[in-house]
Amino acid sequence: MSVPSITPIRWCDDGHLELLDQRALPDRHLTLDVTSADGAAEAIRAMVVRGAPAIGITAAYGVVLAALKQRGSDWQPGVEAAITILAASRPTAVNLFWALERMHQVIAIHRHEEVAPVTALLEAARTIHRQDLDDNLTMGELGADLISREAPCAVMTHCNTGALATGGHGTALGVIRSAWSRGLITHVHANETRPWLQGARLTAWELDQEGIPVTLAVDSAASLLMAQGKVGWLIVGADRIAANGDVANKIGTLALAVQARYFGVKVMVVAPSSTFDLEVASGDAIPIETRDARELTHQGERVVAPEKINIYNPVFDVTPASLIDAIVCERGVIEHPDHAGVVRMIETCRGT
Ligand code: MRU
Repeated sequence: MSVPSITPIRWCDDGHLELLDQRALPDRHLTLDVTSADGAAEAIRAMVVRGAPAIGITAAYGVVLAALKQRGSDWQPGVEAAITILAASRPTAVNLFWALERMHQVIAIHRHEEVAPVTALLEAARTIHRQDLDDNLTMGELGADLISREAPCAVMTHCNTGALATGGHGTALGVIRSAWSRGLITHVHANETRPWLQGARLTAWELDQEGIPVTLAVDSAASLLMAQGKVGWLIVGADRIAANGDVANKIGTLALAVQARYFGVKVMVVAPSSTFDLEVASGDAIPIETRDARELTHQGERVVAPEKINIYNPVFDVTPASLIDAIVCERGVIEHPDHAGVVRMIETCRGT
């Protein structure tokens, strides 16, 4: 399986991070050089880089940037402070906190050293980055195997879960890529994904680049497409999966899953084990990010809502496990997810 050449996150050997600015896609390809942990946190907050695994990878490199700036033996407080700043950048995707915890473990191992352990931290960040790509390729095959149980079909996806959102290949979009290459998918329906338009600007662009047939539609066309029998699987990613299998993902996923159940469309969630949060018993306890009112009141510079109107702009919602047919992660598939299935799978993934 060839990996798409899109590179949202690149560590440069002179000691800085290069991010593809996803705010400018698809019409402009701009990159942003990030040289500090503060800069990495701001890039995550401002959505230069977005998507749960990509946020975690960027934060890990952000810790390396903090370590590079430390001089002398009292390096640890500066790096810990950077971790606190990075952790405050976005609240919902647990991959951010998972990656920072991995970096924290490296700091703990090297805490008595005289200089900041830059080499060890960089190796840890690179491992997180590389491992995410490997996991995506594995999940791609596992998800494609599920689709192969029945005849080739068209699928629907929401938001962007592709190379742009991950270490490469993608989670839900990775399954779509793998299944397409195996002849299991006839067409992809990409939802626009209001208000930030990840589906229109990023997913449609990624698929189009690879010649995978894609049709873009407004989010509210999804139920009509399902009613017309045009969708076999709804395939989405996740930002955090609770211990009982409830899934936080891009706003609109809950409505899609309800519609899918009504119309007999199967629902697949694709996420690496770094997206699971066993500390959270159910989706009710997952923090839901709300973003700037301007995402609704403006289209670019144009004002599209009355001035000073009340705005509610949650950017994630929670889909109950009961509406999900399968969660695919790197060590296997949880069919009809529940607490027992999730815990068993995560213990297998983490070797406990
Ligand atoms: O707000 P975003 O663009 O970071 O939201 C992204 C999503 O909701 C994705 O579906 C999720 O992070 C999975 S990405 C592999």
